[in-house]
Amino acid sequence: MPTTSITIAPLPIPETLHGPAGADFTASVELANLVTCLIWGNNDFWVSPAAKLEGSRANDYAVTYLWAAKDGDRHVGRALLELSLQDNEQNGYVFVAVHPEYRRRGIGRRLLAEAEAFAGSLGRTTLQAWSEHPAGFELEGPDVVQAETGIGSLPAASPAVRFATASGFRLEQVERRSSMPIPADPGLLADQLAGAAAKAGGSYRLVEWTDNCPAEYLDHYAALRQRMSTDVPLGELDYEEEAWDAARVRHKEANLQRMNGRSLVVAARHVPSGGLVGHTVLEWFPEQPEVVFQEDTLVLRAHRGHNLGLWIKARNLQRVAEAWPQGRRLYTWNAAENSNMLDINIALGFTPAGYEAAWQKKLHAARP
Ligand SMILES: CC(C)(COP(=O)(O)OP(=O)(O)OC[C@H]1O[C@@H](n2cnc3c(N)ncnc32)[C@H](O)[C@@H]1OP(=O)(O)O)[C@@H](O)C(=O)NCCC(=O)NCCS
Repeated sequence: MPTTSITIAPLPIPETLHGPAGADFTASVELANLVTCLIWGNNDFWVSPAAKLEGSRANDYAVTYLWAAKDGDRHVGRALLELSLQDNEQNGYVFVAVHPEYRRRGIGRRLLAEAEAFAGSLGRTTLQAWSEHPAGFELEGPDVVQAETGIGSLPAASPAVRFATASGFRLEQVERRSSMPIPADPGLLADQLAGAAAKAGGSYRLVEWTDNCPAEYLDHYAALRQRMSTDVPLGELDYEEEAWDAARVRHKEANLQRMNGRSLVVAARHVPSGGLVGHTVLEWFPEQPEVVFQEDTLVLRAHRGHNLGLWIKARNLQRVAEAWPQGRRLYTWNAAENSNMLDINIALGFTPAGYEAAWQKKLHAARP
């Protein structure tokens, strides 16, 4: 089918959702929501245009660019490019989505080409992209492609797999997306907490907060967030340590609040040194009240083996029931090779819901 009637153009991030620019942004976000909803068969990952707008505003740490593919006034495809500004300045993170009625017409390829050329023109040399795949396919055999890590696979026939490989991306890593029903069984949680606390011994205490880290822990917490960026398995993904300080922690907190999001954090404090040595973060958006997201969980290497991971996670799950009683499903993402974290999650009650693939493409050096 000819694609000449489909126009592709940059879509500036608007100041507000009002007016024509805001309407364009809204339509583009709703297209992304539709594509995601069709992959998962539910609306758990729906994000309001208002929240997306807040999350897309340029700031000191990241800048987002959008392109729209339109058939007349109708948004039929989009490419989003995110660039980090304080670290990982070699990378561009790209997301391409095309309306199901408009696929296999070269629109995805054209959108990717725009984002890729733009990233290259700014000196970015690596593109990373993610694709989503519900569970329920054969994990081995002739019909799957294997991640470069050797652990994790995807259905070879999936449009995203075909598109990414045809576009020169390599499947570097597969993450497992798991979910569990909440509120968690209070008896089980209490047992796990008591067991983990006993194993952790007297050298550790829990510290917890809602939304904003207490000032006294800010620097410690920033150090944990920085370590998280390289302590999780990354396969061959080109990703350097992020640069975190107290200001970046505050920026992230404010950004979440502008998106109308909330967070619960539990950290483990090492009593002899006074430092924070592990943390876990849960996030919730009232616009999707049944859905809770498990974000970072980290225990510093020197403090592993004391059950701190289970302890902080079990405690935060207890807090969810009180803080966000409408929550019914908790989602988490872990590298398929991250067996320590997966074991903890299985103990807590998580089961696999699907997979998220991390793709990478090295760009040719940008022309001067
Ligand atoms: C992946 C996606 C963006 C592709 O968009 P698209 O407009 O259909 O892609 P194109 O028509 O430009 O396809 C470009 C090439 O990719 C490959 N390809 C894309 N979809 C394919 C499919 N369903 N089956 C086989 N090959 C496919 C082909 O090689 C195709 O070239 P060809 O048509 O000349 O053979 C679209 O399927 C989509 O939105 N999927 C959900 C979102 C997603 O997973 N995005 C992340 C991708 S990493």
